[in-house]
Amino acid sequence: MERSQDTVVCRCENVTMGEISDVLTAGAKTFDDIKRVTRAGMGICQGRICECAVTDLLMRGGGVPPTEISPRSVRPPVRPITLDVLGASEPDALPLPDEA
Ligand code: FES
Repeated sequence: MERSQDTVVCRCENVTMGEISDVLTAGAKTFDDIKRVTRAGMGICQGRICECAVTDLLMRGGGVPPTEISPRSVRPPVRPITLDVLGASEPDALPLPDEA
């Protein structure tokens, strides 16, 4: 399958390869540079799906060596949780990761 500039790289934020290429042409050198401009990696999956593809574009299109690519910034919550869990007054009432 051939990729085009319209190929969607980040499905959560609907970011295309062309948008990322434009950011790389403008001088982006990190995943976070791309994220700040395009929102790639800021969707509901927090980059779990698109991180590899964006990193690949960073290496190939941005010319950044793999050894110089730093991990993207990750901020909590790292997985979606409901408001009733956030509002629980008893810490023991919080579900274990397997129960969430
Ligand atoms: S696919 Fe990019 S944030 Fe989910």
